[in-house]
Amino acid sequence: MCGIIGYTGGKEAEGIIVDGLEILEYRGYDSAGIAVSQKDGSVQIRKCVGRVRDLRSLCRKGEIQGTCGIGHTRWATHGGVCDANAHPHRFGKVTVVHNGIIENYRGLAKKYNLQDRLRSQTDSEVAAAVLAHFYNGDPFAAIRKTVLKLKGTFAFGILFEDISEAIFAVRNVSPIVIGQVQEGSMLASDVTALGQYTKEYFVLPEFHVAVLKKEGVELYDMSGEPAEPEWMTVSWDVDKSSKGGYPFYMEKEIMEQPQVIAETVQPRICGGMPDFGVDGIPDNLFEDCKRICVVACGTAMHAGLVGKALMQSLVRIHMDVELASEFMYTDAIVDEETLVIAISQSGETIDTLEAVKYAKKNSAKTLAIVNVRGASVARASDYVIYTNAGPEIAVASTKAYTTQLAVLYLLTGRMAYVRGSFGETEAKSFASQLLLAPEAMQQVLDRKEEIHYIARSILNAKDVFMMGRGLDYSILLEGSLKLKEISYIHSEAYASGELKHGTIALITEDTPVVAVVTQSKLQSKEFSNIKEVQSRGAGVILFMKETFELDKEAAWESVFQLPAMEDSFMVMPASAALQLLAYYVSLDKGLDVDKPRNLAKVVTVE
Ligand code: F6R
Repeated sequence: MCGIIGYTGGKEAEGIIVDGLEILEYRGYDSAGIAVSQKDGSVQIRKCVGRVRDLRSLCRKGEIQGTCGIGHTRWATHGGVCDANAHPHRFGKVTVVHNGIIENYRGLAKKYNLQDRLRSQTDSEVAAAVLAHFYNGDPFAAIRKTVLKLKGTFAFGILFEDISEAIFAVRNVSPIVIGQVQEGSMLASDVTALGQYTKEYFVLPEFHVAVLKKEGVELYDMSGEPAEPEWMTVSWDVDKSSKGGYPFYMEKEIMEQPQVIAETVQPRICGGMPDFGVDGIPDNLFEDCKRICVVACGTAMHAGLVGKALMQSLVRIHMDVELASEFMYTDAIVDEETLVIAISQSGETIDTLEAVKYAKKNSAKTLAIVNVRGASVARASDYVIYTNAGPEIAVASTKAYTTQLAVLYLLTGRMAYVRGSFGETEAKSFASQLLLAPEAMQQVLDRKEEIHYIARSILNAKDVFMMGRGLDYSILLEGSLKLKEISYIHSEAYASGELKHGTIALITEDTPVVAVVTQSKLQSKEFSNIKEVQSRGAGVILFMKETFELDKEAAWESVFQLPAMEDSFMVMPASAALQLLAYYVSLDKGLDVDKPRNLAKVVTVE
């Protein structure tokens, strides 16, 4: 978590850095800060608790001039949220911004007698102090000696007080991308912050040192030998990173789904068949595996659960979905016959990345489904399928989730075909249904005001339960997470049949229940389970496939009829409806929809 940025070049640095921090704010928004190097090498720092807009006002009050600087937006890990713990941290001649966690910071503080000399409670200041300890005019030697002492993850932007107008960068695990811009160079935690200045960038290789100067970027390995950056091109428009007239990114991103799903699916359907030729994935990857294991966190893990339901019933292959954060700590059993699929929007979630490394160490084949090009999870995996969702800025994931689902449908179709569960006709028909998903979702989005109206009935609820079976249950887990994270209403998704094994004790007339019923073979059981909660006084909001028959006698709180697709694909329109429900609750509560409390978009700490 945390966002870092740096700029050196021909222009004033402050505006460029603060604008960049605003883009990176989704990575953390507890505090923000900036350090600008002056012509004489001295460094000015401004930092404060709060949002980047607070930093902007602070900078306005006390002007900060100079054409080389670094900035940081923080998600607190070590040390509370206060000005002193905000970055940048200066120690002696060294000023740093840091993303990551230095696990051995206490030991280092003791070893170098830093205890009484630190001004913050952060691990990052300790790293600055160790750098300062080793710095005697040779920045490379100081960086080399310091990283050898550090345990943990880090992405550092570093200013040395007597080296004016140069930024040094080094990283382990936590990301840094670097670009050359007109008359200068920039670094950032992710490419969206560079997008308006350059489309060409490279990912700083781990344990390499980059030196950013006005004239360009130099890259060295740890032995000081020059290295060649691997340049890449940003694949999305800068315009796609703006709110496009919507009050929040989340609404914009929900509304973009029909388009980005089409962009994810269409290139992967050839001659009517699901096909991963564009991704260079050979069919034997799907033929040779005996089981599949998904590793992912949060929303991405929920996408995996939908994938599991599809794969098991249509491909008839054993599939597990594991929380990436638990995967290696439970000594997960994977081997050369396991295909491990890592799903991640950012491609930087540390648990998912570590799970991929564990899988590889255990000889499994690895396939990443990632949104951000060149991200760590993509690079660590044997194969990668990129979702073409474009930049997802709202902390709550929406379009990344449904494009992950789209890829999982394609994988299901291709795997079923190559493993013989589908003939060509069935595979083609499956692909053609998927091509209809954007239109079905559009029909839901066009009725967003109906869902806005429905959302009012849970606005003041303390708890909301969600119930469904099979695929409906899988998507409700995600619907419930969405509601929790952006509205702060406690919510739980339950497999309908499981409620009466304990949890139904919590159902009263004050507990709204959201039910999703889209699966033909399960509908009668679903409706009986719904009756059970209605009998306990719960008001039920029903999202139902439009072709199912509604019990008009029952007292529904509200009913939203979902456009009909084949049952396996109902996940797509239903997901859009649940996203809108959570969005409108948060909006009408007057919350900051895009930046819910305590969260960050990219989770780079374990
Ligand atoms: C919730 C959300 C998170 C992420 C999770 C994994 O809306 O976005 O649960 O899904 O932190 O992140 P990625 O997909 O970047 O690995």
